[in-house]
Amino acid sequence: MNQPVTFFIDGQVIQGQPGQTILEAAQDARVYIPRLCYREGLSNFGACRVCTVLVNDKPVAACTTPITEGMMIENDTERVQNYRKDLIDMLFVEGNHFCMFCEKSGNCELQALAYRFRIPAPKYLFQFPQREIDASHPDIFIDRNRCILCGRCVRASKELDGKNVFQFVGRGTEKRIAVNADQLSDTDAVVTDQAMDACPVGAILKKHIGYTIPVGKRVYDHQPIGADIEDSAVASDT
Ligand code: FES
Repeated sequence: MNQPVTFFIDGQVIQGQPGQTILEAAQDARVYIPRLCYREGLSNFGACRVCTVLVNDKPVAACTTPITEGMMIENDTERVQNYRKDLIDMLFVEGNHFCMFCEKSGNCELQALAYRFRIPAPKYLFQFPQREIDASHPDIFIDRNRCILCGRCVRASKELDGKNVFQFVGRGTEKRIAVNADQLSDTDAVVTDQAMDACPVGAILKKHIGYTIPVGKRVYDHQPIGADIEDSAVASDT
């Protein structure tokens, strides 16, 4: 049997399994590391950097970095949380999120992170980009205004649905999510695809079920994001 790997997060001794990433081993030990592009069951992508931790004072993505014996990790400290706040801020201003009008409000992981990090408003200037909406499909629509380019839909379509409905096109500020046809209705996407549940924000939404769960009764209306991972004593501090 493999020997466990002993490492430290904020001074806490943790044992993980060889081959686990920092994020996975931390989660097994009920230590929450914020994340957006990571989703259990999908390959790790390392795109959003919200899971940034410091290892020997160097920032690394916890979702792609394997644990090693004796590793000293800084996670829940002011300077690490400030990195993450900046990243979350930037995700808000480089899109058009308008949470108050979004059907995903209360179930949105980006919004929930902003609440957890107590970000009342971004400190950077809003960019107000012009982005396309694709409402061609009878059951699904894509609102790229809220897309954070996490790639969860791309990976879920490929790895779980066995399709390639979504893909990235363009570079830099022109990078965006595209579909493998002129528009979504011309693809083989169906509403039951797991890719349609993979979006952490309100960029891929299902039609006909809006507000079935009323605002106020949604998952993050009742608990901070990550509370399901943390010990209840820790969760009550957030
Ligand atoms: Fe690790 Fe996005 S969750 S980079």
